[in-house]
Amino acid sequence: MDFPPPLIERLRTVRRIVVFTGAGVSAESGIPTYRDKLTGLWERFDPEDLDTRRAFKADPELVWGWYEWRRRNVMQSEPNAAHRAIAAMANHVPELTVVTQNIDDLHERAGSVAPVHLHGTLFQPRCIGCARPHALPPGMPDEVEQVVGYRLAPPRCGHCGGRIRPGVVWFGERLPRDVWRRADMAVRRCEVILCIGTSSVVYPAAELPLVAARRGAVLVQINPESTGLERVAQFNLAGQAGEVMPALFEAVWAQGQPG
Ligand code: OAD
Repeated sequence: MDFPPPLIERLRTVRRIVVFTGAGVSAESGIPTYRDKLTGLWERFDPEDLDTRRAFKADPELVWGWYEWRRRNVMQSEPNAAHRAIAAMANHVPELTVVTQNIDDLHERAGSVAPVHLHGTLFQPRCIGCARPHALPPGMPDEVEQVVGYRLAPPRCGHCGGRIRPGVVWFGERLPRDVWRRADMAVRRCEVILCIGTSSVVYPAAELPLVAARRGAVLVQINPESTGLERVAQFNLAGQAGEVMPALFEAVWAQGQPG
């Protein structure tokens, strides 16, 4: 794979980089993106109808079942070559921050340290009443599908008895302030931002690459499809993240190094 020489040169000396990821980075691990049509059990649903507080209030078992099904899917998936290349880059760049819109844990499992989860995670649910965190039992949520179809009653909070809700940001909810602050600081400081596998249509997350670009960062997009970011990106690398990212890593950092 050939990359523009000015991009390779810039990356060789970069000190502060943000890797901004969306669902596309996990697509090759088998996790559907938000623009993919749901299949199987969930065929007749639209994520935008399930991922809201109102939906959870109206039908907690449906929404909890949906998230436990997704958690199970993630637990059965493995990080792909893009997650691994991103984790490996951190050994070569003095300051690398992963800012992800994804609620899976594939960046962490590939070795990235403390990624910023803008939209929360599947693995830290909390009480809808008192907001205390709830520890999920270890292992896979087997009951989903096998025992109860797609419906599953959410556990109850050990403290106040409220229902446990997924630890994600739903449509219409604010992003947690500390999470936003970390992401915003990183994009304001970075010299390069790599935007990987995001349609860049959901705000405020989609604002972050624009902030970086306005402050002079070089914006690089990795996506097989065209998106609105194309106009602002200095470099558009059209392709699958699992192919482009390891090749980019190889071209910039791996050549001539032992091992
Ligand atoms: P989307 O599903 O909107 O977009 C996925 C992007 O990944 C698309 O632009 C695809 O072209 C691209 N893509 C697909 N396969 C790819 C691959 N193998 N390599 C690289 N790119 C690939 O996902 P997001 O942009 O992450 O929010 O969506 C943003 C937010 O919208 C989500 O976090 C979620 C959703 O509503 C909340 O839940 C709050």
